[in-house]
Amino acid sequence: MSNFETIIYEKKNEVGYVTLNRPQALNAYNMQMRDELYQVLGAIKDDPEVRVAILKGAGERAFCAGADLSEFLTAPSPVAAREARWERDVWGLFLGIDKCLIAALHGYVLGSGIEMALCCDIRVASEDAQFGVPEMGLGIIPAAGGSQTLPRVIGRGYALEMLLSGRWVKAEEACRLKLVNRVVPRDDLLPTVEKLASKIKAHSPVALSYAKQAINRGLDLSLEQGIELEGRLAHYLLSEPSRV
Ligand code: COA
Repeated sequence: MSNFETIIYEKKNEVGYVTLNRPQALNAYNMQMRDELYQVLGAIKDDPEVRVAILKGAGERAFCAGADLSEFLTAPSPVAAREARWERDVWGLFLGIDKCLIAALHGYVLGSGIEMALCCDIRVASEDAQFGVPEMGLGIIPAAGGSQTLPRVIGRGYALEMLLSGRWVKAEEACRLKLVNRVVPRDDLLPTVEKLASKIKAHSPVALSYAKQAINRGLDLSLEQGIELEGRLAHYLLSEPSRV
């Protein structure tokens, strides 16, 4: 797949690299990025040559500073801008990918940026990362799944604090809150996620997709139902000829 205007997509050694590429605007998420991300995520989902994907931001300062505020300001209203954004279900696509997605987070990780990261399975941050949900300050609420994914990852109290107060969280605190799995020096960010990606891609893609389903779907069930789900998936997996 060729490069786009707002995203660079590369494939190397069975890893898909998605780089948000608007560094002059701190990789703010605009409509073009929405459309391009939709195509790239579709390709990752369907391409058997991609076993793991890494999502990262171009430039020194940000993974993504949230929705593009210039589009918000030129749309008839922030509501209209939001509605336009829903025309493509990028977030549903993100969450429907049965491969491992790893977010490599540096600098500003705000609004849609944190929401994209929350759609990934594993989040690794560099020491300079800062996380925030600034929507309330704009009179809106998250609309890329953040009000649902954030409490599922860090719990209700901290999610409410971040959302209602708009307080930003630095990398170390984000790690304590389990918003990110680990924090590494900036220069180690990509090598760390690449190392993780190579461990993950060494496993059977079919088993990985079942394991991911067991955890993600199970978390929305009671323990008893979750264990039943695990049993069913384990049974189906045994009948998959391509499981190893
Ligand atoms: N949408 C569009 N452009 C954005 C942007 C966004 N969300 N965030 C940053 N930019 C642009 C700035 O307009 C600026 O462009 P310019 O150089 O053409 O003027 C450039 O990125 C650099 O940002 P700047 O604000 O100058 O950097 P800073 O270090 O002073 O501040 C932030 C960084 C992240 C604190 C600040 O840019 C900010 O608050 N951004 C908006 C965050 C936000 O509310 N996101 C929406 C969530 S719903």
